[in-house]
Amino acid sequence: MDQFLIEGGKRLYGTVRAQSAKNSVLPLLAACILAEGRVTIREVPPITDVFCMAQILRELGAEVRFEGDCVLVDGSDATEHTVSAVLTKELRSSVFMLGSLLARFRRAAIAYPGGCDIGLRPVDLHLSALAHMGVKTQERDGYIVCTCDDLRGADIGLDFPSVGATENVILAAVLAKGETVLSGAAREPEIVDLQNFLNAMGARVRGAGTDTVVIEGVKRLHGVEYTPVKDRIEAGTYLIACAATGGEIEVEGVEPAHLGFLFHKLRENSCKIHIKNDKIRITSAGRLRCNRKIETMPFPGFPTDLQAQTVALNAAAEGCALIVENLFETRFRYVPELKKMGADIEVNGRSAVVRGQPRLHGASLVCKDLRGGAALVIAALAAEGTSEVVGLAHVDRGYADFEGKLRALGAEVKRVRIR
Ligand code: UD1
Repeated sequence: MDQFLIEGGKRLYGTVRAQSAKNSVLPLLAACILAEGRVTIREVPPITDVFCMAQILRELGAEVRFEGDCVLVDGSDATEHTVSAVLTKELRSSVFMLGSLLARFRRAAIAYPGGCDIGLRPVDLHLSALAHMGVKTQERDGYIVCTCDDLRGADIGLDFPSVGATENVILAAVLAKGETVLSGAAREPEIVDLQNFLNAMGARVRGAGTDTVVIEGVKRLHGVEYTPVKDRIEAGTYLIACAATGGEIEVEGVEPAHLGFLFHKLRENSCKIHIKNDKIRITSAGRLRCNRKIETMPFPGFPTDLQAQTVALNAAAEGCALIVENLFETRFRYVPELKKMGADIEVNGRSAVVRGQPRLHGASLVCKDLRGGAALVIAALAAEGTSEVVGLAHVDRGYADFEGKLRALGAEVKRVRIR
């Protein structure tokens, strides 16, 4: 088991380049088995969720190779339509296999998906949307088993703009018969990236990034080489880390329009944000003002995946913040850990009241989920004294070389093996 040893109180300076988006690479990998031929995805971050998805594709019979920072997938010989329980439970994104397996084999079976333990995360929206396309679902021995005689385009409305359900419908519809019109779709940049990727493979998808996506089914898709969009959540995490510790950093490679809401909130904290093309420079005010209120919302609202990091920042700012989590029910599980550092946070259901403290102190901390883990690291960087952070398997799911990138910015972080 590994732990981070963090000596807090160092300001961050320098430049960091954003990795490709985890939430893009995972559905793109799921889409690879739709192609007749080889797909190359470039600049793939070495994170465990990616390795887990690669393993799922191998289990299905696809050939998957990592070469440098590229992943090469040839799903031509895939024959299997069942994703085993061991891997499905590791990774929530295994649910994307439903759409792509249905498109490829007209049948799919996956165990109930896992991933971060941050709420109920049902798949009812996925299944009811797919039912409109002629998909029948049964639950058998812990597996969701989907079959269809004829996968056909349909008019589908989502009651909530679920990212995963939107992506699953797109994946199923690209090889269905006829046209699918999906209303109430999620508008996240990673969905636009999936559209661009599929279109580069010969699909006909339009409207991603708006609430209506139209997919005209085609007969086949071909291989492609593709570079995914950059990770707005990883980029946002480094910006928040700099805000919390003091200093000035530049994050390169990310599309500023994907982080508009975060910039607004960081300015409210009295940080300066300067944007030039794909470079975002933040100058921290050192002692920050609390945000008055932050509510997480589907894109383009404030992302739930930056909620925990923002709470860590507010915990050591001046004033009082109200943070409302609208996406996931139990996304405050990291709060007791922040309290060990002297944070004053009161959670009530989906809201947290954060009363900023003059300073936090180092402590022994346990990551409970991916973004909550990043929040603990940020708090430890800003705190006085030393912190030990365990449960790094969670942060390794989404941040490539987290400690290396932080060290390059001047942070004192070491990964040590403890057993
Ligand atoms: C994706 C992201 C995750 C992000 C989330 C919200 C990936 C791999 N993960 O997760 O990082 O936090 O979007 O931006 O892209 N819901 C239902 N029924 C369903 C599906 C969802 O009730 O069938 C609910 C969920 O419980 C949750 C909300 O809808 O409360 C949002 O979920 P969704 O947008 O589907 O998130 P994910 O695709 O799981």
